[in-house]
Amino acid sequence: MKVRKAVIPAAGFGTRFLPATKSQPKEMLPIVDTPVIQYVIKECVDSGITDILLVIGKSKRAIEEHFDRNFELEHELEAKNKTELLAEIRDISNMANIHFIWQKELNGLGDAVKYGRTFVGDEPFALLLGDTLLGTNDELGRPITRQLIEICERFESSVVALESVPPDKVERYGIAGGDEIEPGILRLNQLVEKPKREDAPSNLAIAGRYVFTPEIFTYLEDAQPGKNNEIQLTDSMAKMLTDRGMHGLRFDGKRYDIGNKLDFLKTNIEFALKRDDVGPGLTKFIKEIAADL
Ligand code: UTP
Repeated sequence: MKVRKAVIPAAGFGTRFLPATKSQPKEMLPIVDTPVIQYVIKECVDSGITDILLVIGKSKRAIEEHFDRNFELEHELEAKNKTELLAEIRDISNMANIHFIWQKELNGLGDAVKYGRTFVGDEPFALLLGDTLLGTNDELGRPITRQLIEICERFESSVVALESVPPDKVERYGIAGGDEIEPGILRLNQLVEKPKREDAPSNLAIAGRYVFTPEIFTYLEDAQPGKNNEIQLTDSMAKMLTDRGMHGLRFDGKRYDIGNKLDFLKTNIEFALKRDDVGPGLTKFIKEIAADL
């Protein structure tokens, strides 16, 4: 059951972030100075993943180029003796074996995941949304994907990260119901995409990180368009859950949804405040403008 591959869908239109996403992917938007997708790839690498498939769409070439070498830039940095920056830039292209595939029509997340079938083959794999970051409070510092991999290996079942959301927000998410069998670990019995508040089995929302056994592809192949006329991953997960069972991890940490403007701004501020280079200056600035509010 060793998990060494990951699929990252990053093909969406990003309509909530227009006009910035008209010609560049939201996954390339920076959190301070690093594109969101680079954090996601780092989470994979820190979780023991060696091979990553990025599902990309139109105008996503910037993602490809970001993970390729840029010899001209390296030469320039070398000439200017910017050794540290040079090493950092080179490291980006050495993070993992990164593969790309184009999603031909943007028919939803479930459809994007289907493109991973040949790459994944007969192995369990991690799925990470390219526009979502998850911070962890784990005392061992394990990324959420690592924690999910460990649960998948232990229970030999698919597993999904879950986040408690306010009950009036359940209509925005895929929601899971289940029994807590160990602190934080649930055996799921229900999965429903964007339920009405009164139909939601809980307030535990699917949080953009999953580890699947390869059978998920069988369910995705048979999937019909669901909500918003898109192939909904949650619908195929619900079928898989009925046949094979599935686990959930109510993770201890925080979700950053970069696809939404307010969360993107908050994430930038939170990450920047923790940095030695820009943190002190930003703290001062925030105090100044807050005084005028
Ligand atoms: P979202 O639903 O947040 O992406 O999908 P979106 O469609 O780009 O966003 P809006 O609503 O138009 O602003 C979550 C993840 O799934 C990917 C997205 O790139 C994002 O990382 N995705 C979504 C695909 O790869 N293909 C799709 O057809 C849909």
